[in-house]
Amino acid sequence: MQRVRHGHAGTLLTTPDLKRADAQAQDAADPLAAFAREFHHPHDASGRKLLYFGGHSLGLQPRSAAAMIEEELKDWRRLGVLGHHEATRPWIPYHERAAPALAELVGALEGEVVAMNSLTVNLHLMMVSFFRPDSIRNTVLIESSAFPSDRYAVVSQLQFHGLSAAQNLIEVQPRPGERTLRSADLIERIEREGPRLSLVLLPGVQYLTGQSFDLKVLIAAARRVGARVGVDLAHAIGNTPLQLHDWNSDFAVWCSYKYLNAGPGAVGGCFVHDRHARDAALPRFAGWWGHNKAERFLYDPKFDPIDGAQGWQISNPPILSTAPLLASLQIFQRAGMTALRKKSVALTSFMQRLIEEGLPADVEIITPKDPEQRGCQLSLRIARPAALAKRCLEQLAAAGMIGDWREPDVLRLAPIPLYNSFTDVFAAIDILARTIGAISQ
Ligand SMILES: Cc1ncc(COP(=O)(O)O)c(C=O)c1O
Repeated sequence: MQRVRHGHAGTLLTTPDLKRADAQAQDAADPLAAFAREFHHPHDASGRKLLYFGGHSLGLQPRSAAAMIEEELKDWRRLGVLGHHEATRPWIPYHERAAPALAELVGALEGEVVAMNSLTVNLHLMMVSFFRPDSIRNTVLIESSAFPSDRYAVVSQLQFHGLSAAQNLIEVQPRPGERTLRSADLIERIEREGPRLSLVLLPGVQYLTGQSFDLKVLIAAARRVGARVGVDLAHAIGNTPLQLHDWNSDFAVWCSYKYLNAGPGAVGGCFVHDRHARDAALPRFAGWWGHNKAERFLYDPKFDPIDGAQGWQISNPPILSTAPLLASLQIFQRAGMTALRKKSVALTSFMQRLIEEGLPADVEIITPKDPEQRGCQLSLRIARPAALAKRCLEQLAAAGMIGDWREPDVLRLAPIPLYNSFTDVFAAIDILARTIGAISQ
């Protein structure tokens, strides 16, 4: 049985009072602290506020979201179909209101982004345009732990073109004994496979390990060998700084229910680089909402795509699922990504320090230790027999802590700079240390 380091009575953290005081001092000096009050924090049945570290999965609800949705419901009640033009925020161009903030978050021109669909749908639409295999370039390169939906999408696209995962999918693995991928290994593989690569699909932040990829150099490597490059930003948008335009990615896709706090199943988004903006010859799955706006209602049978990312839209925007996104983006604009990232680095580093000092040495942080190589999430490998792991999770839940568990042994915790405090982090790791201590004895 692993011996644990014991500190103050009832906790495994050494000098817990000092650490709590440190957390309180950091909260007092935090210029973003007030933003936490702009979110609804979940409570349990007894009214106790939960320690919420699940923002990598579903972000908390901005208090302003309900009013934003209610305004659209009101305009719908008041105006019916006239709301398309006469609503307070007219519905026809409604999604365009999200573009300035989205462009800022991903480092793009406004015309390069669009709020639409959900992530996997957008990934398919992008692959229709940017995965165009021929007899030589017919292979997709991804990382071996890619999110399953991405892999399903890629394999189904391969099959759609009469290709197969066995022949046409390269899945790059970490080195034996390592959990995260080295940029140098990815680049070496991209260069080695270069002539056969049609598409390289990269994560911004890896969903399981929390590793943030060096997109600038990886995108450059893929483009040097003549491949197209796409990025899955599910865990990166609103979390890490991004410069997609300068980094020259062909496309990117994201969801808005994690770090963007836009609600379950909220409308996702898509980036298409400006160099493709006016390329009407690119094959795409078209729909009327991607058609030249001036003539959309003239019902010309010939499709004339809007320049830029909006030209990939198919259907009219879902107003009620875009409203909370607008509410959330207003908060991001007020807080500013630079300040958020600064707090995020401090918050996650604080969490890392408490874990390293308070948890048994065999609880391994698999997320890179270098803040440049991660977002806010820390993934902990807690290798315990299944029954003990289950008990640990039950005890964490009973103590009011929300993170999530990915089989067989990974606990993911995301301290979110918009609504988590340093005191939250202290309380969470204190609970985690006690719980792991209890199951380790
Ligand atoms: C990395 C990653 N890619 C893709 C998806 C799928 O998202 P959607 O259901 O919006 O298609 C998720 C969902 O959590 C994800 O984490």
